[in-house]
Amino acid sequence: MTSRPGKIYLVDDDSDLRTATAQWLELADYQVETFPDAPSALARINPQMAAVVISDVKMPKMNGMEFLARLTALDKDLPVVLITAHGDVQMAVKAIRQGAYDFIEKPFEPERLLDVLQRASEKRQLVLENRDLRRQLNGTGAIEKRLIGDCPAIQRLRAELLDVADTDAPVLIQGETGTGKEVVAQCLHEFSSRKSSKFVAVNCGAIPENMVETELFGHERGAFTGADRRRIGRFEYAEGGTLFLDEIGTMPLPIQVKVLRALQEREIVRIGSNEPQPIDIRLISATNCDLLAECAVGQFRNDLYYRINVVELRVPPLRERGGDILLLFDYFIAQAAITYKRPTVSIQATDAALLMHHKWPGNVRELKNIAERFILSSLPDAQRLPSIFGSTGQASTLPGNPPLLELLRHYERSLLEQSLSRHNGDIQAVTEELGLPRRTLNEKLTRHNLERKDFIAH
Ligand SMILES: Nc1ncnc2c1ncn2[C@@H]1O[C@H](COP(=O)(O)OP(=O)(O)OP(=O)(O)O)[C@@H](O)[C@H]1O
Ligand SMILES: [Mg+2]
Repeated sequence: MTSRPGKIYLVDDDSDLRTATAQWLELADYQVETFPDAPSALARINPQMAAVVISDVKMPKMNGMEFLARLTALDKDLPVVLITAHGDVQMAVKAIRQGAYDFIEKPFEPERLLDVLQRASEKRQLVLENRDLRRQLNGTGAIEKRLIGDCPAIQRLRAELLDVADTDAPVLIQGETGTGKEVVAQCLHEFSSRKSSKFVAVNCGAIPENMVETELFGHERGAFTGADRRRIGRFEYAEGGTLFLDEIGTMPLPIQVKVLRALQEREIVRIGSNEPQPIDIRLISATNCDLLAECAVGQFRNDLYYRINVVELRVPPLRERGGDILLLFDYFIAQAAITYKRPTVSIQATDAALLMHHKWPGNVRELKNIAERFILSSLPDAQRLPSIFGSTGQASTLPGNPPLLELLRHYERSLLEQSLSRHNGDIQAVTEELGLPRRTLNEKLTRHNLERKDFIAH
């Protein structure tokens, strides 16, 4: 997850502290709004905002604890960080119990505050993203709108996904980079009864090796130098929901042992603690490497492999879903046009041929990036795509001006694929839709090397 500094609402009756703190935060790229008391802050705060609240505890008009109660009633997931008097541990514990995200003892170092805020705003972002997703889903209801594609392989994937979504079976998602593994993981969560709880994604490859354990299992205060407070790990954070371990192949071996143990025992032990904590999570993992090969060379534990791979979902590379390239491209340009408030541009036959010819090593992500650049380009419509492909040095294999027959061949193939998919390989329905005699259709299928059986979704 990328963290974007968000908005901070800072409430404190001490105006010097307000000014100084606001300055640090602004230097760290946060947008800050300050308030001398809780009621004036409450007047500005609404449930869906992308923000974190920092508040003093001892204040006139309304104290911090009451303010916290009002905020949690408004939005229980709004992160509230309380600034407490030094040594007031009891109060701090009470605050956390009542839903505060964290507390900071006065006087505090700017780094400490920034560290807490970074995590709080990441959490907030995650909550809002999940809510957005849920809203979109409730509005549309259909997995076809989340995991887009008409080709048989994607139809099959959607069916398999829905079969296992509402179970607790661990799922391993395999696929090349950019194929949509994370989309699949999110769908598994969204279409399960855990959907009202969290979806927590951990990119195992992006965490420094010595931090993985803390990140996953958390630590107690004083567990090691610098552990100045208890930290909840991702396993516990995902309680009741779904934990997504992305790039699991990069997980260091000693951590693999601990993850295996956590899955077997359904409990974790925070670093520096002797007390196991029970966990209730659904585990989804993803990898773009061949984990069995990693097992064979001792880089991945066999026992863990079988534990996480109760169900395996394979996301095919884009080059194996030729029929979907134009569909996805159309979808992404429509999306980009909305995001960037640009007019949509319809693609031309030559564009279609370029897109169909490209090998897509970066898969759907690459296609999406190209669609965005296509929309943002200031060139005349017909020059956009050739210029994008030219400049990335990934020039398509098409010569400068593809002959008309070549273009028609592509177009024909994509129409055939789409119709076959739509009708689930039913030849009769395809002949009717395309107005072709059966024999002509058969000849065309042979010429394009298309087989009916590949279009039957199971
Ligand atoms: N079938 C799809 N329908 C709609 N959007 C998709 C689809 N597949 C991928 N995307 C979009 O493409 C981008 C890349 O997908 P995603 O991040 O899920 O890939 P990934 O397999 O997890 O990649 P990596 O291996 O690099 O982590 C995302 O923006 C995602 O929303
Ligand atoms: Mg990913």
